[in-house]
Amino acid sequence: MSFEPDVLGFACNWCGYAGADQAGMSKLQYPANIKLARVMCLGRVDMRLVLEAFRKGFDGVMLIGCHIGDCHYISGNKNAVLVVERLKNILHLLGIEPERLRIEEVSGGEGPLFVKVVTEFIEELKALGPSPLSEAVNAAAC
Ligand code: FES
Repeated sequence: MSFEPDVLGFACNWCGYAGADQAGMSKLQYPANIKLARVMCLGRVDMRLVLEAFRKGFDGVMLIGCHIGDCHYISGNKNAVLVVERLKNILHLLGIEPERLRIEEVSGGEGPLFVKVVTEFIEELKALGPSPLSEAVNAAAC
């Protein structure tokens, strides 16, 4: 059986989530591996939330928000880029591949782009295999 990664996606209300909505309304399919959490802005995504997602066993975490310059709260997505850079360093120190964390810019009218970035991320996670933490979580559950 092939590995199916579990992914948590933080999507901003105004762009990322609207892009997912647009994909749905256009009947575009994307992998069911991603569970979306709607946030008002990517600037609201705390580092601890991302680390907790990995601790709970998610194989990847994706932040999907407005294009740089289009954030409805001016600089939330710029701050999120910095947070993701810091988190990638922390993940590396924890022995988790930094590629398991990604940030993408998708506007509310870019449903096809939403599908593309999510699908590509899922494929890359499939190639990486399960997160070391998700394997530990599954072993503890047995
Ligand atoms: Fe979309 Fe800030 S409102 S990233």
